[in-house]
Amino acid sequence: MTAPESIAEHRKEDGPPLLDVSMHLHTPASPAVGTVVGSERCTRAKSHAFVRHISIDVSGTSIAGVIRPGQSFGIIPPGTDEQGRPHKLRLYSIASPTRGEDGAGNVIATTVKRTIDEHWESHRLFLGVASNYLCDLQIGDKVSLTGPNGKRFVLPKDPSSHDFTFFATGTGIAPFRGMIIDLLESGARSKVSLVMGVPNANDLLYHDDLTNLAARHPNFTYIPTLSREHQPDGSPPAYVQQRLSTHRQILEPGLCSDRGLIYICGLAGMELGIFQQLARILPPQHLDAYLKIDPEARSCIDTWERRMIHKQVSPTRRIFTEVY
Ligand code: A2P
Repeated sequence: MTAPESIAEHRKEDGPPLLDVSMHLHTPASPAVGTVVGSERCTRAKSHAFVRHISIDVSGTSIAGVIRPGQSFGIIPPGTDEQGRPHKLRLYSIASPTRGEDGAGNVIATTVKRTIDEHWESHRLFLGVASNYLCDLQIGDKVSLTGPNGKRFVLPKDPSSHDFTFFATGTGIAPFRGMIIDLLESGARSKVSLVMGVPNANDLLYHDDLTNLAARHPNFTYIPTLSREHQPDGSPPAYVQQRLSTHRQILEPGLCSDRGLIYICGLAGMELGIFQQLARILPPQHLDAYLKIDPEARSCIDTWERRMIHKQVSPTRRIFTEVY
């Protein structure tokens, strides 16, 4: 028996049930103490950015074995700020799969970009406190962690019922590294695509690992995207959202099915760009599964603005975003 149309409509809008996750097992008052066991540069030597893959052994703590890709953990940098107050807690995304870096869930990893800037008025050097603290850590150093945090940006309970399109810019790749490894190792036959955006080829993160995964798993497509230089195939610089047109044939099967889920992580600006591009290319019946768009907004996609998101342009529960 088929469901009445109103219920069928409702079900279409419902997102998939997500993984049950553990939260807040360690608080600032009772942090987990981990040990740094790895710290490697993710970017090539000529990149202007300093990004490190930092691995922390959390065995014996409540975080071990339970933290999921898409969740984050908190770091409290030691010391005090300029006003003498203890530094605030900062959240970092887990980059490791559920099995951890070690296969047993005891070693977790994160992807950290050093914040190095210049104060606008004083033109003095500004160094981000937590990112530089983490990137300076040496093997064997102890580090206090809280968490896990977050339950909305994780994989569905039954990944094999879905196809996945991931869009990342920069260190937004962190949660997707873990999710993609989880998906590919689960044996699910899901179509998995990753569109990864960085300025230059030297800035690509986990590029060799992702290239190797794509070579070994025919259901995984990796689409690196350079914004400030031509692509290796000679095509012009692009933002991730432009891949929805240039790689339409590859991405469409994953998007245009009832199984499709979209995950977006990285710079806030990409969110609007991806929504606009989806609205331009997807046939209405598929677009409706991802975005609820006011009739007036449908006719002026090119002039959409960020403030329209969640008002005139609303993602359904088949789009997951983590932007900053
Ligand atoms: P660009 O800086 O050339 O404008 P990173 O975090 O390593 O700097 O990478 C962020 C990437 O996201 C860069 O390639 C950056 O391009 C790109 N980017 C910046 N703004 C947007 C946007 N609105 N939509 C999509 N990508 C963007």
